[in-house]
Amino acid sequence: MGAFFSSLGRTIIAGFVILIVIILAVSGMSEGGVRGSDLFVVRWLHVMAGVMWIGLLWYFNFVQTPSMPKIPDEQKPAISKVIAPAALFWFRWSALVTMVLGLLLAYMSHYLMAAMTLTKGFHAIGIGMWLGLIMAFNVWMIIWPNQKKALGIVTVSPEEKAAAAKMAGMTSRINTMLSIPMLFCMVAQSHGGL
Ligand code: HEM
Repeated sequence: MGAFFSSLGRTIIAGFVILIVIILAVSGMSEGGVRGSDLFVVRWLHVMAGVMWIGLLWYFNFVQTPSMPKIPDEQKPAISKVIAPAALFWFRWSALVTMVLGLLLAYMSHYLMAAMTLTKGFHAIGIGMWLGLIMAFNVWMIIWPNQKKALGIVTVSPEEKAAAAKMAGMTSRINTMLSIPMLFCMVAQSHGGL
């Protein structure tokens, strides 16, 4: 049991296997079979990627950044050289996947343009999508390039390194702020929150 869960890959596969068992069991129980559609699969994958993205954003803001001053200097490289680069890898790629699947979701639902132009009836998701797009832009164009300098992945002067850390930290805070209305708007479109 312990050996099984020591592998992340096997754990994730097991999650998918449990899902397939649930789908088969439920489809056997209901008369019309499963109601799944391409749109639903995209929606589900979009939410999974979004949870990883925002989960890591909140990890940075709720856990890592506030903990840094409490860590002795000689132990800080464990964060800056090992944990932060790994977290940033999943963070930026899950942001990209979330964005692509979100745009695809709107396109497949035939309201991409209506949402982007904030047409009546699509205000909620339109605002949510604009906030999400701004956040994804921030990840790839501001946070990641500055984190590369701040973490020493690219070599710059100490002044530039400090400025980059400040810029990445502030943009990450801005994204944390935007994540609150963004998530409200995402869910509001289909569930009447706005
Ligand atoms: C660029 C970024 C994003 C775009 C373009 C986008 C787009 C969309 C679209 C088009 C929908 C379908 C709304 C509907 O018709 O019900 C949606 C739903 C949703 N999105 Fe996003 N999204 C983005 C970011 C995120 C992020 C970061 C999360 C974080 C978890 C997220 C979570 C959700 C959730 C929970 C739903 C609702 C699903 C439901 O109510 O069934 N989205 N998004």
